[in-house]
Amino acid sequence: MNLFDLKGKTVLITGGYGYLGGAMALGLSHYQANVCVLARSESKFREAFGSDAGRLHFIPCDIANSTSIKSAVITAAEAHGSIDVLINNAMYCRGNDPLGISDDDWAFSVDGVVSSVYRCIREAAPIMQKQASGSIINVASMYGIVAPDFAAYENAPESLNPPHYGAGKAAVIQLTKYYAQLLGPQNVRVNSISPGPFPNLDTQRNQDFVSALKERTSLRRIGRPEELIGAAVYLASHASSYVTGQNLVVDGGWTAT
Ligand SMILES: NC(=O)c1ccc[n+]([C@@H]2O[C@H](COP(=O)([O-])OP(=O)(O)OC[C@H]3O[C@@H](n4cnc5c(N)ncnc54)[C@H](OP(=O)(O)O)[C@@H]3O)[C@@H](O)[C@H]2O)c1
Repeated sequence: MNLFDLKGKTVLITGGYGYLGGAMALGLSHYQANVCVLARSESKFREAFGSDAGRLHFIPCDIANSTSIKSAVITAAEAHGSIDVLINNAMYCRGNDPLGISDDDWAFSVDGVVSSVYRCIREAAPIMQKQASGSIINVASMYGIVAPDFAAYENAPESLNPPHYGAGKAAVIQLTKYYAQLLGPQNVRVNSISPGPFPNLDTQRNQDFVSALKERTSLRRIGRPEELIGAAVYLASHASSYVTGQNLVVDGGWTAT
C-alpha cells in the first residue's frame, strides 16, 4: 500500500493559486489528487499555473461570503462525488501598525484569518461526516505560536506581522483542536500546518530582511513553497490516519529556539 497515494481523492484548497497554495495544489496533484482551487479569479488561476492549469479545477469562491463558500463546496461535491480533503489556505488581513490598527481593520482581519476558516469548515464538515471520512487542514502560522522577533523587521516595517494576524492564527490552531474533537467520531481528521518564514518573491527583494529571517532559523535559510508539499500530502493521505488535532510546524527551526 502506498501510504501517500491520493488517487481519486478530491482536495479543495482555498486561495490555491497564491504563493504557498499554488505549490501545495500542484504538489497534491502530482500525488494523483483531484485538486479544486477555490478562489476569486479564474484569470489569476490560469496565469499562476500556465500549462499546469489543466491538471487542476477552478471553482469560484470568496471566503468572505458564506453563500459563495456554500455554492463552491456543493459544486465540488456534485462534480466529484466526495470531498476528501479541505485545505483552508486563503486569508485576508489589513493594517500592521501594532498600536494603530483601526476597529474596522481589526474586525476585517480577524474575519479573514479565522472566521473564514470556520465558514469553510461549516460547509464541508457535514459532507465529510456523511462520508465517514475526511481530512481538514488549516494553514496557520508560526506567528500563532510565537511573537514576532521585532529586531528581524527593523529593515522591513511594511512586512511586520501585526497582532490581529498572530492572534487569528492562534485561534486557527485552537479551532483545529476543537473540530478534531468534534468530528473525530465520524472519522474526520482536522490538523493544521504552521509555516515559518516563506517570504514571497516581492518581499525577497529586500535582502536585508531575508538575511535577518535566515539568521533566525536553525537551518539558516528561508522556506521554499514546495517544502510545504510534504506536510500537505502527509496530512491529506492515509500516512496520517491516526493523527488529528495536531499542528505541524514547518519553519526551519524558528520556533525551536
Ligand atoms: N508566506 C508566508 O511566509 C506564510 C507564513 C505563515 C503562514 N502563511 C499562511 O499561508 C497561507 C498562504 O499565504 P501566502 O503567503 O501564499 O499568501 P498569498 O500568496 O497572498 O495567498 C493568499 C491567497 O488568499 C486568497 N484570498 C484572499 N482573500 C480571499 C477571499 N476573500 N476569497 C478567496 N481567496 C482569497 C488570495 O487570492 P486573491 O489573489 O484572489 O486575493 C491568495 O491566493 C495564508 O493562510 C498565510 O497566512 C504564510
